[in-house]
Amino acid sequence: MRILSGIQPSGALHIGNYLGAIQQYIALQHGNEAYYFVADYHALTSVRDASKLRGYVQDVLLDLLSLGLEPEKATVFVQSDVPETVELAWLLTSVTPMGWLEKCVSFKDKIAQGIPAEHGLFAYPVLQAADILLYDADVVPVGQDQKQHLEITRDIAERFNNVYGKTTPVFKLPNAKILSTVAVVPGVDGRKMSKSYGNTIEIFDDPKAIEKKCKRIVTDSTPMEDPKNPETCPVFNLLKLFATADETNQWSVRYKAGGMGYGEVKKRLGELISHRFAEAREKRHSWAADPVRLEEVRRMGAERARKTARIVLDRARNACGLG
Ligand code: ADP
Ligand code: TRP
Repeated sequence: MRILSGIQPSGALHIGNYLGAIQQYIALQHGNEAYYFVADYHALTSVRDASKLRGYVQDVLLDLLSLGLEPEKATVFVQSDVPETVELAWLLTSVTPMGWLEKCVSFKDKIAQGIPAEHGLFAYPVLQAADILLYDADVVPVGQDQKQHLEITRDIAERFNNVYGKTTPVFKLPNAKILSTVAVVPGVDGRKMSKSYGNTIEIFDDPKAIEKKCKRIVTDSTPMEDPKNPETCPVFNLLKLFATADETNQWSVRYKAGGMGYGEVKKRLGELISHRFAEAREKRHSWAADPVRLEEVRRMGAERARKTARIVLDRARNACGLG
């Protein structure tokens, strides 16, 4: 199967990105044809500093490789190294009703807050559809927040097929793959963890910084001696994503029994997170020390991605009468 997913270089990656998306990327690179990319065209909608953007792109590449993407198995690339993407986006734009995009949450939210939105933000879902359709992707591993984008992608593909591909469909219809237990990982304030909310625990923070972030997780004011409800506690909800089932059960019993302070479980959560990413932190040092190797991975990824992209783009151009 063809797998494809992208991640924006708009800040340091966090454990929500890892649990919701990246761990799926890693698992699916085995036995499939996988494409994973750094979505720098998309990041232009929020990052407006050229050197910052370049830095974030390098960082996300390093992060993905250190976490376990294997460039021999998966095609790892940078979105803007495949300019075919923007050409396909234009073909798709031409069949996409405005109404579909007006419904999309990131655009709608901005307008609701009275903030003027750029056309790039309005057209963001079309560019994302181009990313996906350009590689004939079957499966797109993502977190829950991307569900709407995947639905629009299918709608756009169907619309294009109806207009131009009545006899032979031009695009394959992709499916989102969302893991239900980690579809929405909570941040330190209990809302969805997101770079844009400043509520993240970063994957590559050092153990001290991780411990500090865990201490900031918002908990209620139930006194130490009273029983507590693990299910509504953001610390417990994060802990169960990192601890073994046995350990999770033990903490659940302790919550309900009372006599346990939140400080103790926060400390344990910090340890579990640091431990989970210890190997990746080591690997990141060695990738970071070898920029030539990193550049080669990027070049090779772009070459492979463009080969696939060209075939699909030509099919789409031909279907609508270009060239
Ligand atoms: P952010 O919201 O922090 O900017 P991105 O939009 O770059 O994150 O998301 C990259 C990937 O990580 C997407 O597949 C997204 O669905 C997933 N993801 C982001 N935040 C979470 C979260 N809190 N829980 C689960 N998955 C998430
Ligand atoms: N919009 C996605 C996000 O914010 C990133 C993205 C861009 C993406 N293109 C994609 C995800 C294609 C999956 C497939 O997380």
